[in-house]
Amino acid sequence: MSILPYVHNYVQEIQAYKPGKPISETARELHMKPEDIVKLASNENPLGASPRAVQAMQLAAQDVNLYPDGASYELRTKIAQIFGVDFEQTVVGSGSSELIELVCHTCLGPGAELVAARYSFTMYPLMCKLFGAEFVEVENKPDWTHDLQAMLRAITPRTRVVFVTNPTNPVGTMVQQGELDDFMAEVPEHVMVAFDEAYIHFADPQPDTLRYVRAGKNVVVLRTFSKAYGLAGVRAGFAITTSEIAGMLHKVRSPFNMSNLAQTAALAALDDEQHVLNSVSLVRAEMRRYEEAFQTWGVPFVPSQGNFVLVNVGNGQRIFHECLKRGVILRPMDGYGLHEYVRITIGTPEQNDRCLRVLQAALER
Ligand SMILES: Cc1ncc(COP(=O)(O)O)c(C=O)c1O
Repeated sequence: MSILPYVHNYVQEIQAYKPGKPISETARELHMKPEDIVKLASNENPLGASPRAVQAMQLAAQDVNLYPDGASYELRTKIAQIFGVDFEQTVVGSGSSELIELVCHTCLGPGAELVAARYSFTMYPLMCKLFGAEFVEVENKPDWTHDLQAMLRAITPRTRVVFVTNPTNPVGTMVQQGELDDFMAEVPEHVMVAFDEAYIHFADPQPDTLRYVRAGKNVVVLRTFSKAYGLAGVRAGFAITTSEIAGMLHKVRSPFNMSNLAQTAALAALDDEQHVLNSVSLVRAEMRRYEEAFQTWGVPFVPSQGNFVLVNVGNGQRIFHECLKRGVILRPMDGYGLHEYVRITIGTPEQNDRCLRVLQAALER
């Protein structure tokens, strides 16, 4: 007997999150060695993790028979010190994805609305389905940036949270301080504003959103260790917010929501500023190479402040498959209705050489 008739209707309607195609799956399908495949599909850090984080995890592996510190005391203390906030204003979790879910858990339910830009992280509409809330999608401006004024107009008495993804995925555009200040001055007090800053390290300049938290606004700043810190595989992220909101997020998280390996790795990664600087300068230098190639080929792209670039290749699925056959995994954008596009994560110089070669050949075919 199928259990489906007894499962929540909304669960049956959910389209599960579709990640970038994994290397292992591609290797199986194409009968290739995993090491011969280049994955530029999930905005991961091609330099890997900080060696300090890897070493710290090796040591911590001896203690995995013990539950982690459920309060993540050391990590949260360090985050509080670095960002100049109180310990009570911090929350950590298994990637910023978990923190996004916690934010939604605290405030969404039937009748509630979440406002976000059309071209922003796909988790937000998924969360709306999960909590029975309404997703209010706001068109980006013609230059692909968030239209914060339109987002303000989309707020109703039922709006519980607005997500501002800065820089935004999958386009890489940003809204700057002045626009953010104007937006924050107008947001009604009953609305929580979540700044999803997964790619903030790659941006220049980097707007300061912690100022709104310090001013006591109902703001949550979300950060991840998955990108510039190179720890996507351990799942680590954090939120800085008011102690009131942090208290709510702590209530809805599971008791040991961050493994001791993740806590240890994140702590060590915060100490290795050089690794972040190296990662950022690699991305910036290699991004220029992609931009120059696209300009030479006459291929439209969106100038990006992230570690990825959205490029109009005419037929995203065709180019994705052509590149895949040659061992380069890109991200098709059909999920966003961007059928002409692929998104490319910036890799190492060697990975990018290969990607550019394969991509050029695919475009000429
Ligand atoms: C905009 C944005 N926010 C959040 C995340 C979640 O990252 P993680 O859960 O690895 O911290 C991603 C992942 O790609 C993202 O693109």
